[in-house]
Amino acid sequence: MVECAALPDPLCGPDGLRVQDAQTWRQKLRPHWLAACAREIYGPMPPTGKVQVEVGARQGLRIALAVRLDPVLPPIHVALYMPEGRAHAVFFGPNFAGNASIDPDPAIPLDTGWMRPEPAWGIAHNRATEATRGVHAGRWPLGEILARGYAAATWYDGDICPDDPDLYAVRGQKLGTRAGAIAFWAWGFSRVLDALAQSGLVPADKAIAIGHSRHGKAALWAAACDARIAGAIANNSGAGGARPFRCREGETIGDLFARFPHWFAPALRDFADRETALAADQHVVLALIAPRPLYVARASDDAWAGPAGELAGLEAAAPAYELFGASDAVGTHLRQGGHALTPEDWRHFLDFADRCRAAGRL
Ligand code: GCU
Repeated sequence: MVECAALPDPLCGPDGLRVQDAQTWRQKLRPHWLAACAREIYGPMPPTGKVQVEVGARQGLRIALAVRLDPVLPPIHVALYMPEGRAHAVFFGPNFAGNASIDPDPAIPLDTGWMRPEPAWGIAHNRATEATRGVHAGRWPLGEILARGYAAATWYDGDICPDDPDLYAVRGQKLGTRAGAIAFWAWGFSRVLDALAQSGLVPADKAIAIGHSRHGKAALWAAACDARIAGAIANNSGAGGARPFRCREGETIGDLFARFPHWFAPALRDFADRETALAADQHVVLALIAPRPLYVARASDDAWAGPAGELAGLEAAAPAYELFGASDAVGTHLRQGGHALTPEDWRHFLDFADRCRAAGRL
């Protein structure tokens, strides 16, 4: 059991009146909640910008896309994996150590950008090395995803915004934004979606944002903000993800800022130990995704993320799904084990996507 302070009703506006229909929620409460979340939790989104996509030659099941945004950003290198025939839908999300880390194919260039020092991932002197190849292959079981008829697209999060307080600030200055890194990565989902749509290679109206942990936080905010995103899967997303800050379990706002001061809006720091003063909370972010498919994946030993609180967040978002008559568009599982993204998790995601397609929700 987890103790959660009373969670604000996502169907209640600032006037205290409860919305009774989906149209009013869309017109009135959606903008209200988006603004509250941006103000107190994530900070602003970077400016949209125009993307240009260069589609590389097909290499087996993989196509490399170079996505360019006005000259200030290095290209975003997207690895797109295509099944036989037209994909049912595409799962898209960032990775932690470059595209070569999720697929050992030696033809994939190592990402040359700055990386967080993680010796276990073969990162040396803040750069990927040959030892980085395939270290996260289990996080993207491409064979199974493709065999089930889905496409997958992934890119290095540092191509969007380096996960470092100083480098992130430099990137933000160049783009003229004060977005926190989570918002930056969320914006990255939208820019990659622009590119996927332009490429015409996959059904961009069936793009499911997926992220593990910090990327799960970003996937949720991306889907909340960008209604083109067809659905979201947040794996072990924890604090600032699916778990409301009002649910006291594991990582707190203070913990987040102690280690990752660049992830959220500076304003969020002021709510440490007074979470109940927040206008919104993370269940509201989940509600903002309604009626689109939403999946919250949890793990039994992931106490830092807080699997009970993640479930409480999902349950507190349910009224928004009910308002749309879309309660069947929500799913969750509790994997036995720790903080990870595994083939077992993916089997649940693929089953969920199949169910959503059968129900006409995807
Ligand atoms: C840290 C951080 C979490 C985050 C996780 C991850 O544990 O405290 O908030 O989700 O890293 O991204 O793996």
